[in-house]
Amino acid sequence: MAILVTGGAGFIGSHTTVELLNAGKEIVMIDDFSNSKMEAVENVKKITGKDFKFYEINYLDREKLEKVFEENKIDSVINFAGFKAVGESVKEPLKYYYNNISGAIVLLQTMQKYGVKKFVFSSSATVYGDPETVPITETSKVGGTTNPYGTTKLYIEQILKDIYKADNSWDICILRYFNPVGAHSSGLIGEEPQGIPNNLMPYIVRVASGELEQLSVFGNDYNTHDGTGVRDYIHVVDLAIGHVKAIEKLDKENSGLYIYNLGTGKGYSVLDMVHAFESATGKTVNYKIAPRRTGDIATCFADPTKAKEELGWEAKKTLEDMCRDSWNYIEKQMS
Ligand code: WQD
Repeated sequence: MAILVTGGAGFIGSHTTVELLNAGKEIVMIDDFSNSKMEAVENVKKITGKDFKFYEINYLDREKLEKVFEENKIDSVINFAGFKAVGESVKEPLKYYYNNISGAIVLLQTMQKYGVKKFVFSSSATVYGDPETVPITETSKVGGTTNPYGTTKLYIEQILKDIYKADNSWDICILRYFNPVGAHSSGLIGEEPQGIPNNLMPYIVRVASGELEQLSVFGNDYNTHDGTGVRDYIHVVDLAIGHVKAIEKLDKENSGLYIYNLGTGKGYSVLDMVHAFESATGKTVNYKIAPRRTGDIATCFADPTKAKEELGWEAKKTLEDMCRDSWNYIEKQMS
């Protein structure tokens, strides 16, 4: 019985597929390459030495999606497919609501049609909006999302809760990611944002490589230890392993709806990240203090206790690992 990984050629999807294959799971992957490349699919096979079926389709294409379920014995689904650029979502909300929410609905309807009810959803800490208190637990208030991307995650979580309420034979795991960074140690897969990166680590890496001139630190007047924004950065491989644990939990349970924060429980500021990157790589990161970015919050980091207790999962990789592996990936891409 196979696990269908949608958006499996993307940053989190490709790393998760590596860990699922390493754990001996059978995989079927779909991706439409709207924000990824076939090269990532091939590199997952190269890293693991394992093969799997791949379909280049958009999950909104119901007919083609049904063909995947006809041709394979799908037992569970991990949904990574979806657009994820916060800034772009503000400019093009309809594109995000259609792709992320309608896509999830078509996927869930197709699962229902074929009697597949085990579902892992790639959610995000953005569903907490501007948290009242930190560290954030899974019972912290959700809502007040500050961009359409985050709102799509919030709405899909609500759809999943309503599906489970209507039919509690579903077996659903919602994983709320904090800030994924880093890359597989092979340097063969990593974060490949299209155009100028929105996120901090891909920007730092491109300043260190000389591709971009200078990092703008968005504000140093926040109520944090050094005035710059604090986030819970988690190595993408730790995040990927969290998905293996989530699938194994669904395999054990017959039904349920489970929500977990996937974070380290530690918060680091922008300047902490700059300094950690410089000491891990020996590179210099040229930066300037710039005005705050609209929609940013001061501090966000997880309480990951529930995932440790119920999934037997915790992040193990260090900030140095995150910086070194991010740099190693770009060095390999540039060579
Ligand atoms: C981190 C910190 C910025 C860029 C977003 C999404 C979230 C998730 C991760 C998908 C903040 C500062 C950044 C720069 C900077 N994505 N920064 N200069 O905004 O915490 O979260 O990405 O799930 O859903 O919301 O991540 O990396 O953009 O910012 O100073 O050029 O770095 O102000 O404090 P964010 P980020």
